[in-house]
Amino acid sequence: MTSYSEDSFPKESHFSRRGLLVGGGLASIGVALGIGTTRDLSPDNRNGVPPSESLIPFFGTHQAGIATPPQNHLLFGAFDVTTSRGDDLRAMLNAWSQAAAAMTAGQVVGTTTNTYAPPVDTGEARGLPAAGLTITIGYGPGLFTKDFGLTAPRLQPLPNFPGDNLTENESYGDIAIQCCADDPQVAFHALHMLARMGLGVVQLRYSQLGFGRTSVTTASQDVPRNLLGFKDGIENLRTNSARDYARFVWIDPHASTPRWQHHGTTMVVRKIRTHIESWSSSSLDTQEAVIGRFKDSGAPLSGSKMDDAPDFSAVDQYNNYVIPSSSHVRLASQHSNGGMTILRRGYGYSEGISPQSGEMLCGLYFICFQKDPHQFVTVQNSLSLADALNDYIEHVSSAVFAIPGGLAKGDAWGDQLFRS
Ligand code: HEM
Repeated sequence: MTSYSEDSFPKESHFSRRGLLVGGGLASIGVALGIGTTRDLSPDNRNGVPPSESLIPFFGTHQAGIATPPQNHLLFGAFDVTTSRGDDLRAMLNAWSQAAAAMTAGQVVGTTTNTYAPPVDTGEARGLPAAGLTITIGYGPGLFTKDFGLTAPRLQPLPNFPGDNLTENESYGDIAIQCCADDPQVAFHALHMLARMGLGVVQLRYSQLGFGRTSVTTASQDVPRNLLGFKDGIENLRTNSARDYARFVWIDPHASTPRWQHHGTTMVVRKIRTHIESWSSSSLDTQEAVIGRFKDSGAPLSGSKMDDAPDFSAVDQYNNYVIPSSSHVRLASQHSNGGMTILRRGYGYSEGISPQSGEMLCGLYFICFQKDPHQFVTVQNSLSLADALNDYIEHVSSAVFAIPGGLAKGDAWGDQLFRS
């Protein structure tokens, strides 16, 4: 078994990945210095800088990758913890956060001095900018049943919902790592690096590539379309309402959860396969009635513009609801769930075809954040019973994680988790 030491990983990375392309010596140092100054752009303030060049700060009150504007690509990974030594886990998590800080700053991880050993940085992101990379960590319920002396958060495994058809080896996990970036290779490098650093302590259980964000978290980002061709993320929590985030997303610093979860949240992950051939053979009227919005404009069926508030009481000449009672938006809305809601941040996925039917294996890698998983459970209970969309979709994996608050500079994931 690997004996794990934080000293295996240098504390600081001194070179930007781009600097290495420019050449060694002064050129590299010049570019590296530039990182902390001119490229410290928040994603909503890119000032004409292409998304691939943007840097999203790793340190802060909350972890990045939750309220920060969704990038275009995802690589999600869930790990099982294989060590029984708490010290090894702590050291690995500390080293992970140092590496994550470097990679999200567009830097190479560490310095390779011993050419008889594998290079410290695996190398596939050399020359690539930070691409708005965020690396978000979460802890699954199973981690707290192990003998590490950790205080468990309030985090029950999710119940089974009607229609669930879950694949065990693509579900659950002790540690989640969500890598989002505007370049899939940058996201791949991030998860690959952490997986390799974790050898002997953790083992990847599953991973999932996602593309095409299906959400927005800020007022300024365009609403994208999902693989069904509908605008997605219209009715999502926007950061311009701090009140909503305080109410529905962030765990407040006085909550009776372990301290590491203050300013954190919880994450639910559901892989939802879409039977896309059947969907795209349905009439436009059917598709719109299933969702409850117009396909082209995204407007609710009771309105004419995307931003019109849905009128769930509107009825047609036959006294039927204009937004049908089985429509997705009606059943998912706060209106149907006692005011409860969630922050959605999912991605599309596509991964070949079914060898049996030849159908595309694709759908939505649904990710959402909420103060308490009960919020998701409430909405999913309502959807799983009556959503007209259920004729076209199938939930094939499931996981829930407690998300720690953000790190202050100088702090590290292992110390944060083990001290409270
Ligand atoms: C493949 C599966 C799914 C697809 C294709 C899908 C698609 C959509 C679309 C097109 C909208 C309308 C636009 C918008 O407001 O964003 C929407 C709204 C919404 N969806 Fe889904 N969704 C899926 C699964 C889920 C699941 C599993 C949940 C939560 C359990 C969920 C929760 C919501 C919520 C809360 C809204 C906003 C409803 C409102 O207040 O108007 N969705 N979804």
